[in-house]
Amino acid sequence: MNKLASILLIIATCVLVTSCRKSGCTNPNAVNYNASAKVDDGSCICLTASGPTPYSLVIPATFQRFLPAPVFPADNPMTVEGVALGKKLFFDKRLSDDLTLACASCHLPSQAFDDTNRFSVGINGIAGTRNAMPLFNHAWNLTGKFFWDGRAIGLEEQALEPITNPIEMHDTWVNVASKVNADATYRTMFTNAFGSVPIDSNLITKALAQYERTLISGNSKFDRYLLRQVNLTPSELNGFGLYMDESGADCFHCHGDATNPLWTDNLFHNNGLDASFTDKGLGDVTGNPVDDGKFKTPSLRNLVYTAPYMHDGRFKTLDEVLDHYSDSLVQSPTISPLLKNVANGGVRLTPQEKADLKAFLLTLTDSSFVSGY
Ligand code: HEC
Ligand code: HEC
Repeated sequence: MNKLASILLIIATCVLVTSCRKSGCTNPNAVNYNASAKVDDGSCICLTASGPTPYSLVIPATFQRFLPAPVFPADNPMTVEGVALGKKLFFDKRLSDDLTLACASCHLPSQAFDDTNRFSVGINGIAGTRNAMPLFNHAWNLTGKFFWDGRAIGLEEQALEPITNPIEMHDTWVNVASKVNADATYRTMFTNAFGSVPIDSNLITKALAQYERTLISGNSKFDRYLLRQVNLTPSELNGFGLYMDESGADCFHCHGDATNPLWTDNLFHNNGLDASFTDKGLGDVTGNPVDDGKFKTPSLRNLVYTAPYMHDGRFKTLDEVLDHYSDSLVQSPTISPLLKNVANGGVRLTPQEKADLKAFLLTLTDSSFVSGY
């Protein structure tokens, strides 16, 4: 019998034998065959013959034009099975200690994977001190630094934290792995995605990261404008001009220009919020005082969904954000030298200029992203 025929036969017997269900896997062809089990409990895992299927990301046209292809960790290539598993995990409240909170509870698809609270609330009702961050286009975060202060390197490492964080899901990895392991569907999905290896924090975070890399937002009005599919209004165009103008609103140094569809440099700056810092941001991570008060530049995409704004959610509206940059910048030792007008309080925009700048910022809204999940 040739190899393919024997694999097919194994799968066929596997399916037949596992159909009688009930304490341990009694199927000798399954990867988790338990020789001492007398009664089959339906937990047998039968590998698909072909192994996981490579996943192709759908990359928006503006990204193809301006950005390099995303780079994935060599030990976590994207697969159809891995992404499906990551999605199930992302929405699963069993990943928290009292079963009430999933990743998606604070990263809601309808809010561009952000929440609407100033501070997210963890399982014990305890609020943190930072505003949740939206999740999209992270496959292109080439610095690989995540969180407002950049303390996690890579999405896999990032996903380790919320599970054990006492003000988030507050569980232990051993406990979460055993809850996942107790579910036969998960066991099959893990084996299909990663082969026959124990389910642990390493595999769970790999699957979550694969799913997060599929969250891509690249279909805003401004993207369609760049593709010559729509026109901008005079107000939106004027707003874009101000955004790009060093003697206007001067935003592009940190948030990117039309050749950067991420609308962030993914770097860390002090954008003039405070004279001294209760939350030192990057400074707490590096221990270097020159980094005090620096936080990761957020993307300007999807602002309509991501209020309130800044690392501590201090601004409820975009108008408050624009008032900050226009009139209320605060001097401090680490303020970014790119904020050249701090001595004047800011870039001093007229009410009409603020309205135009806001109209431009709202052209970066991608409603297909929030409705597509
Ligand atoms: C209780 C609410 C809450 C839960 C639950 C939660 N997060 Fe978050 N998430 C946050 C907050 C708040 C931040 C910002 C924290 C900081 O910077 O210190 C954040 C930041 C992130 C970031 C960084 C984004 C960036 O641009 O740097 C990623 C990625 C992320 N979360 C993924 C997840 C995943 C995956 C899970 C589930 C395992 C999860 N989160 C569960 C609230 C939550
Ligand atoms: C020196 C770099 C820099 C410049 C210039 C800059 N920003 Fe920012 N921006 C940041 C950083 C860093 C943050 C996050 C700061 C924090 O939370 O502490 C931010 C936050 C924001 C936010 C909040 C987004 C969110 O999801 O919380 C908006 C909106 C914004 N900036 C718009 C603008 C506009 C409009 C301009 C021009 C008037 C501008 N920025 C100029 C660096 C900059």
